[in-house]
Amino acid sequence: MGTMRFGFIGAGNMAGAIVRGMVAAGHPADQIVVSGRHGEAALALARDTGVAAVPSNDDVVRASEYVVLAVKPQVLATVLPALAEALAQARPVVVSIAAGQPLSRLASWLPEGTPVVRVMPNVNAQIGAGMAAVAGNEHATRAQVQVVLDAFQSVGRAVELAEKDIAAFSAVAGAGPALTFDFIDALARGALRHGIPKALAVEMAAQTVLGSAQLVLERLGEATPADLTDTVTSPGGTTIAGLVAAEEAGFSPSVVRFVDGVVNRDRELGA
Ligand SMILES: NC(=O)c1ccc[n+]([C@@H]2O[C@H](COP(=O)([O-])OP(=O)(O)OC[C@H]3O[C@@H](n4cnc5c(N)ncnc54)[C@H](OP(=O)(O)O)[C@@H]3O)[C@@H](O)[C@H]2O)c1
Repeated sequence: MGTMRFGFIGAGNMAGAIVRGMVAAGHPADQIVVSGRHGEAALALARDTGVAAVPSNDDVVRASEYVVLAVKPQVLATVLPALAEALAQARPVVVSIAAGQPLSRLASWLPEGTPVVRVMPNVNAQIGAGMAAVAGNEHATRAQVQVVLDAFQSVGRAVELAEKDIAAFSAVAGAGPALTFDFIDALARGALRHGIPKALAVEMAAQTVLGSAQLVLERLGEATPADLTDTVTSPGGTTIAGLVAAEEAGFSPSVVRFVDGVVNRDRELGA
């Protein structure tokens, strides 16, 4: 399959991360166009990466086989109906990264029969370490979903999921970085309490989280996280004493409650 022409409506944080990642991964810059409301962000992105900034959202649609909607969710209701004519003529695949906007609602703003792929990216895409989930509607072909998976794999990992699972995915991958930042800070505060300066404590904690996560990913299918815990927990030792103390303070249930909290709020907002 040849390189597909991608267009981005919106040139903010997420569009910037994805475009930079795609270009770094070898997607030809001359096969990508971007537009933004005020233009400056699109121009800056074009200057940095060699992609083309175009004046209007209509221009993006006309130039692209895959149109990525990278505007805030509440903006979609005005942006999409305005593009109806251009979309009906060019008939691109529409890719939405808007949080909390189901495929059915997106389709209601689009010409009948439009292939739509919903993606939930995460903030770590900006350093090429993202985790994204992808779900296509009934008009999106396998090959089209694969093109979108490939694009998001250029800025990290990407998996295909049934749309009903996107809320749980969003709790782990979308909101999870916030909990992880809190975890790193809490670990560092623990070290601070025992006399290590905060900046050094944060560096130690972050590198520990990074390495532990890499180990989990490298051993996927061979060892569970719990197996890895067992390898560093000696009988009667210090680590098990710490783990038991954390469980007494509600560590695992509080993490599961975090996921519940995000999923419940997502349901409230989507209702
Ligand atoms: N950031 C994340 O971690 C994350 C994670 C998952 C999903 N998402 C989703 O990603 C989407 C974009 O988020 P973001 O963080 O990238 O937002 P952002 O940085 O605010 O970017 C939004 C961009 O949209 C542009 N825009 C606004 N109205 C427009 C219009 N009518 N036509 C064309 N462009 C327009 C803005 O331009 P101006 O600056 O000129 O107003 C801005 O460049 C959202 O739907 C969000 O739910 C983000």
